[in-house]
Amino acid sequence: MKTFYVINGPNLNRLGKREPGIYGSETLETLEQRLSQLASENEATVIFHQSNHEGQIIDWIHEAENASGIILNPGAFTHYSYAIRDAIASVPTQVVEVHISNVHKRESFRHTSVISPVTEGQIVGLGLKGYELALQSFF
Ligand code: DQA
Repeated sequence: MKTFYVINGPNLNRLGKREPGIYGSETLETLEQRLSQLASENEATVIFHQSNHEGQIIDWIHEAENASGIILNPGAFTHYSYAIRDAIASVPTQVVEVHISNVHKRESFRHTSVISPVTEGQIVGLGLKGYELALQSFF
């Protein structure tokens, strides 16, 4: 059975409460249930992680070195964490970067992703659906 990691970064534990006009009203828990269901329909399993701490995210990326894929939303770390970028480059696992909001329509500091050059692809602005599309891209 294939195993995928879904890793969410800072403030994404607050989905449902956090700026609902931008991130919607669904919680991280509901999203994870949906992704688990989608994975099981495709004979796969998903390990979910969320942290507000950069080093913890790096450790999980290393842990996923033998996984079939990583779906990663590093939150604001996207825009400046060379350490997360290097962690991705250090593992053979394919990573799909997901952003719930359309970062290109927002503040200019969100227009740059330092991790994109080491990911397979990026899905932005499609809300939580982006995570499902990312998982489906691995099947
Ligand atoms: C985000 C976009 C980031 O700019 C922001 O800091 C987040 C969430 C998104 O999913 O749209 O925390 O990654």
